[in-house]
Amino acid sequence: MEPTVALTVARYRPEQEAEPTFQTYEVPFRKDWVVLDALNYVKDRLDGSLSFRWSCRMGVCGSCGMKVNGTPKLTCAAFLSDYLPGPVRVEPLDYFPVVRDLVVELSDFMRKLKKVKPWIIRKEERPLAEGAYLQTPDELDTYKQFSMCINCMLCYSACPIYGLEPSFIGPAAIALAQRYNMDSRDEGAAERLEILSGKDGIWQCTFVGECTKVCPKNVDPAGAIQQYKLTAATHWLKAVLLPWGTR
Ligand code: SF4
Ligand code: FES
Repeated sequence: MEPTVALTVARYRPEQEAEPTFQTYEVPFRKDWVVLDALNYVKDRLDGSLSFRWSCRMGVCGSCGMKVNGTPKLTCAAFLSDYLPGPVRVEPLDYFPVVRDLVVELSDFMRKLKKVKPWIIRKEERPLAEGAYLQTPDELDTYKQFSMCINCMLCYSACPIYGLEPSFIGPAAIALAQRYNMDSRDEGAAERLEILSGKDGIWQCTFVGECTKVCPKNVDPAGAIQQYKLTAATHWLKAVLLPWGTR
């Protein structure tokens, strides 16, 4: 007989439940299966009403983030075999409103992301005829790590500060701001600093570091926030000691 494992899944159907509940399904255990395969088995064979998001199945789209046994994970990269003998508990990411079952609402992040201007800002665009902006491999290396973010939101779900202070801009948006600040083609660091050194920015972070631990792409948002704090403090000090120098 094929071995099985119990998958305990959070359910929330707003038209029929006031509070989330849990439902347990027995799914086949296969060595090469990830949690997302088990959820798809439930959806296809046992209960078509179960709702969850996914797309690429290869750790690229960032849409399959959920809590697995309490830890934020990409379910397409979390092997069932790591959770034996089960049960494997699957819940929506913390701190985001739940739309249905395992699907959360992300518009708070989308608003914050836009605020930090994650695009290249130029004071003056040079004419097309002058060609592309060139960059050396070393210049690329300075921000490449931060550009690997897939907006999966695991870092927000792991961040106790975001849980306590929902206005906190949060780890991924700050890491993405830093991705552009460190880009040799960008001239927007001062504009971003104004937003990020404000009351909902970097100073909210107490360096718990969970964001970096859960990041599936090794982005290190905690490191980005610490780098930013140093930049903001240096900027503030210069403004106090050399007020004419920062103008
Ligand atoms: S920083 Fe990492 S954990 Fe956070 S959204 Fe980006 S990829 Fe996901
Ligand atoms: S399904 Fe795309 S990252 Fe998991």
